[in-house]
Amino acid sequence: MNHLRTDTVNLHLGLKKPVRILQLTDVHISLADERDVEKPLLPTVKDPLEFAAKRREIFFKEAAQRRQDAYQETTGNQLDPIGYLQEAMEYSKEFDCTVITGDLIDFNSWANYDVAREILAGKDYLFTPGSHEFCPNSFETKAKHMDAVQSVFRGNILFESRIVGGVNVVAMDNGYHMWTEEQMKLMKTEIARGLPILLFCHAPIRGEYHPQGGGLQLSEDLLKLNIEFNQLLQDEPLIKAVFCGHMHTAKHYLGSSPKPCYIMPSLFTGVVGEIVID
Ligand SMILES: [Fe+2]
Ligand SMILES: [Fe+2]
Repeated sequence: MNHLRTDTVNLHLGLKKPVRILQLTDVHISLADERDVEKPLLPTVKDPLEFAAKRREIFFKEAAQRRQDAYQETTGNQLDPIGYLQEAMEYSKEFDCTVITGDLIDFNSWANYDVAREILAGKDYLFTPGSHEFCPNSFETKAKHMDAVQSVFRGNILFESRIVGGVNVVAMDNGYHMWTEEQMKLMKTEIARGLPILLFCHAPIRGEYHPQGGGLQLSEDLLKLNIEFNQLLQDEPLIKAVFCGHMHTAKHYLGSSPKPCYIMPSLFTGVVGEIVID
């Protein structure tokens, strides 16, 4: 915990014993090596090494912009996103549960997969993908990279739940700003368990369907399902709060219903989310 700053959220649910959850989001690891040159996973990228270097520079600049002076003084030097993730996973041992809400890697590359796998090996966490684990956004891309991305992380990356101290922690993929029928079914099963739910996903949930995601064409049925499911998530009283990332900056908003939605800052700026529920 030498270089990390904490953004804390307190929730009062009437638990007998407080539960502490660590949320990590948006690390944007951007690496490539010879394998990415020989067997590129992103065919549209001409020079993967140059692309990776450019992406690192972009996030370095964004981190510098987002960091506050006081924070720079307390943390001293600045680590790269990989260093922050290593520290955060070490810090995660002090928590009852750790949830990673996506954009851990910035793009599909062999080098990104390897470093993520290495850092997360043997660690306990729930993971849900972001808008960058499968890019560029298309159903074909997601299908193509699904097995490889799934093999990097523990658990089911599309839907995972865990009861922690009387709270049902649910991590559900909305990296493409959309839900599936299977997720809706699974969430209804979780709701039927009757415990308070904290929902973790990558993109903020709004009351209305939010059609972002790089021009994904949703069928009429899928669009209808998304509108219905978003409303269900907003209206269901057992879902106490939503925690997400994607925006790279801390924000708390209520959307069109009283359901709190907490957007946590990005880990590539050295910030972790600490959620204390009592
Ligand atoms: Fe991101
Ligand atoms: Fe994102």
